[in-house]
Amino acid sequence: MTVSADKAFYLTTPIYYVNDAPHIGHAYTTVAADFVTRWHRLAQEDVWFLTGTDEHGQKVLRTAQANGVAPQQWADRLVESAWLPVLDVIDVENDDFIRTTQERHIVRVQKFLTQLKDTGHIVEGKYEGPYCVGCEEFKLPADLAENESGEPICPIHSKPVEQVSETNWFFSLSKFTEQLIAHYEANPQAIRPASAYNEVMSFLKSGLQDLSISRSTFDWGIPVPWDTSQVVYVWFDALLNYATAVGLGDEPGTEGAAKFAKTWPADVHLVGKDILRFHAVIWPAMLMAAGLELPKCVYAHGWLLVGGEKMSKSKLTGISPQSIVELIGSDAFRYYFMRAIIFGQDGSFSWEDLVARYTSELANGLGNLASRVQAMVGKYCEGKLPVPGDLTEADNLIKDLLTKTVAKADRDIRDFDFQNGIMAVKEFIDAVNLYVTEQQPWVVAKDESQTERLHTILYVICDSLRAVSTLYASLMPKAMNSLWSDIGAVESGLTQSITTAGNWGQLKPGVVITKSESLFPRIEEPETI
Ligand code: ME8
Ligand code: MG
Repeated sequence: MTVSADKAFYLTTPIYYVNDAPHIGHAYTTVAADFVTRWHRLAQEDVWFLTGTDEHGQKVLRTAQANGVAPQQWADRLVESAWLPVLDVIDVENDDFIRTTQERHIVRVQKFLTQLKDTGHIVEGKYEGPYCVGCEEFKLPADLAENESGEPICPIHSKPVEQVSETNWFFSLSKFTEQLIAHYEANPQAIRPASAYNEVMSFLKSGLQDLSISRSTFDWGIPVPWDTSQVVYVWFDALLNYATAVGLGDEPGTEGAAKFAKTWPADVHLVGKDILRFHAVIWPAMLMAAGLELPKCVYAHGWLLVGGEKMSKSKLTGISPQSIVELIGSDAFRYYFMRAIIFGQDGSFSWEDLVARYTSELANGLGNLASRVQAMVGKYCEGKLPVPGDLTEADNLIKDLLTKTVAKADRDIRDFDFQNGIMAVKEFIDAVNLYVTEQQPWVVAKDESQTERLHTILYVICDSLRAVSTLYASLMPKAMNSLWSDIGAVESGLTQSITTAGNWGQLKPGVVITKSESLFPRIEEPETI
């Protein structure tokens, strides 16, 4: 994705339900969002990265009731004890955190709703049909499965759906069918990956029904401004967070209006495929009704699976991010999920795979390369980066490969092809490791007439690691931050930047190369996690 200069690169995660604490499925989306936004920031772009929590609706209300507390108190507790802390656990640098119970959100939702009512997009009607509280979704007969006793169930939650029969306010979703189809035909990149695009197009072509956007049988939600016997349907409230958080509908001349002009439309709504239709059908129709610009892209990634099924809170198959981070650290956690699972497809978490990749790619690959060169500069050059001589063919191969690596990683990561972007950097590291093996600096060091050659070899390795510490900084911020300073980049007066990472020879000879503690220490496999 490329962004015009006056607009921020605006990326969002879903806002997560606070019925329970986060598991690694939620962390997966948030890490992906953090990885790509850090990448854009490292290219000196203006970035806005929003995440948050979805706090209204029956699912949260029922959990709070089951725990004997008021829903607001329950939401506060979960946000403070779980949803905010997990951002530190997985080392996420978000710019804002929205909660749908915040005043700024409620006020703007009500204003938006009133506008839609005044322009004839919201009318009264009667709703009758199945509802899944787990999904907080009105279901169509075609969406449902059956259990052994023949009852209709939600295939995602494997629980019976409930029958709803109410007089509610309806959003005229069906009016937008043709306009949505035309929009997506003209903008095939607006829904990614292609499988998600195809799913939405065939859904749209089957026709849309108007959507009940209020509920009267419980009161945990935003009151409908003109009919306070009803609360706004949780999804209608939740989708608006992306716009309310950046000042939707604020009067011209206000800070909110300036923020909105700078930020809207969103560049990417990153979501799991479970909530694709809400984002690619209902949300853009709401924006069309209000005459607002549509997000440039909804990207629906795959699911982390447990035993072949979606890992979930409601099925109690959730693994907490803490339990993994405690053992391997946040950097390796982030590396594993971005590297091992093809973004856009489903994947299974496996402790064995994680340990194997950690050991071969991080500890033995990158970690070992860094500690070897740090040790050699210590031994042969008193810990100071030597002055390189003329580059040989082997040195130039590394230099040229670096240029290609930066270009490829940049293209792939901006394009959400995280795995190939990471692979490009990994292949560069492998090439530098091979270079060390072939150049044999420890042999060259024994021959006094070859001091200049030794210095060149050590410089090539150090400057390569300088580049790697930038290319991996958005993926493994902590470890790469320490590598960046250990390798003398701070003392060289450099600034990390994707745009200049490929420029050769930035480290200043004479700077101190430190050998701090191991970047990726060995880990023991636990018996259970
Ligand atoms: O749907 N694999 O919230 P939610 C991968 N509040 N990602 C997963 C996952 C898994 N097994 N499980 C969850 C909601 N996720 C609404 C969203 S947005 C306006 C409102 C991630 O708590 C993934 O991003 O059920 C998925 O879409 C999201 O968590 C659902 O979180
Ligand atoms: Mg869910």
